[in-house]
This record gives sequence, structure tokens and C-alpha cells, in this order.
Amino acid sequence: MDDPLERLGDWLAQARGAGLADAAAMCLATASASGSPSARLVSLKRLDRRGLVFTTALWGRKVAELRENPRVAATFYWQSLGRQARVEGRAEVAGRELAEELFAARPRSHQLQAHASRQGEEVENVEALRERLERLDAELGEGPVPCPEDWGAVRIVPDRVELWEEAEDRLHRRTLFEAVAGGWRRTLLAP
Ligand SMILES: Cc1cc2nc3c(=O)[nH]c(=O)nc-3n(C[C@H](O)[C@H](O)[C@H](O)COP(=O)(O)O)c2cc1C
Repeated sequence: MDDPLERLGDWLAQARGAGLADAAAMCLATASASGSPSARLVSLKRLDRRGLVFTTALWGRKVAELRENPRVAATFYWQSLGRQARVEGRAEVAGRELAEELFAARPRSHQLQAHASRQGEEVENVEALRERLERLDAELGEGPVPCPEDWGAVRIVPDRVELWEEAEDRLHRRTLFEAVAGGWRRTLLAP
């Protein structure tokens, strides 16, 4: 069975292997219940048979939107490889256990930032944030940084994946995978 998530995994590994900066960055589009779209980059943290996982603040705009409208889309682009991957599907907030595992794997500075900076909230200035960070760092000392209650992992369960590969003759390869009962239907699209 030709599995698009396995193929996406191979492309990611090749992008990392080629030393591309932000190889795991994907542009994630969400939409409000009324259909108003918004998009931003997030970093893919895990890819397996169940889908694509990223981590984020659970109070932010993207999670508010995907809670009211779980349909999302995400796009990767690896310029020097001439490749784009598009994913569409349903997003769900994953379990606490996965959030804690992925939080523990973050560098300490990222962990502290997740506590000190309330993503998306208006701030007076950067100094106030820096003070908050330093205070927290001193309070925790050498101890571990706990995973914030409202920080988590989101899984995208795809039902449509398109792998686009540039060709010198402009006949770029667009391979579309659509989820069907028990597997994937693969077709080729005109570029
Ligand atoms: C390369 C790159 C990777 C990023 N990765 C993440 C990420 O994994 N999670 C996240 O919450 N924000 C990430 N951000 C910040 C988001 O783009 C965005 O500013 C933030 O999540 C707030 O989005 P929202 O207000 O729509 O929820 C990243 C930004 C860049 C430029």
C-alpha cells in the first residue's frame, strides 16, 4: 500500500538531511466557524500513521478556531528540493500525556518561554516579558519546568495529501492521495 504519510516522512527526512533550515515548518491554515481563514507557521513535532502533531498554546487563536471548526490545512515547502506537500484533514487536541512528553523534549529556554509569554496577548513591552522569564528561571532553579496546563499537542488527521515535485520540463508531478475506506486512493493531477 502506497502510504502518503510514509512518503511525507521520507521527504521530511530528506529535507533534514539536506540541512534545510526549518525543514519541519508548515503553514497551518484554520478557519473560524463563519469561515474566516487565518494562517501561520508551526513546526511539525511528530509524524506517524495517526497523523501530524505540532505543539502550541491552547488558548491561542489557532486552537480556538480549530475547536469550533476542526477542518484545517497545512503546507510544507522545501525550495531547494523543489517540493511542496499539502495536507488537509481534521485537527484534534491530543492527550495530556503526549503534551507532557513533547514539552519535556523542548530546550529549557523554550519551556520557560511557554510559561512567561502568554502567546497572542497584548504586552506593554519586551522588557516586561524578559523580567517575567528571569523571575521564573530563578524561582525554578535547577528543577524541571512543568508543562503548563493550557499548553498542548494538536494532531492533524489527514484525509487528503498532495505531494508536488518540480520537474525541469515544467510537467511538475502532483500526486494526490485521498482517504478511502481502508486506505488511500492515488491519482495524478495536471500541474
Ligand atoms: C518557523 C516558525 C515555526 C513556528 N512554530 C510554532 C509552533 O510549533 N507552535 C506555535 O504555537 N507557534 C509557532 N510559531 C509561531 C506561530 O507562527 C504564531 O505566531 C503563533 O503560534 C500564534 O498563532 P495564533 O495566534 O494564530 O494561534 C512558529 C513561527 C515560525 C516563524
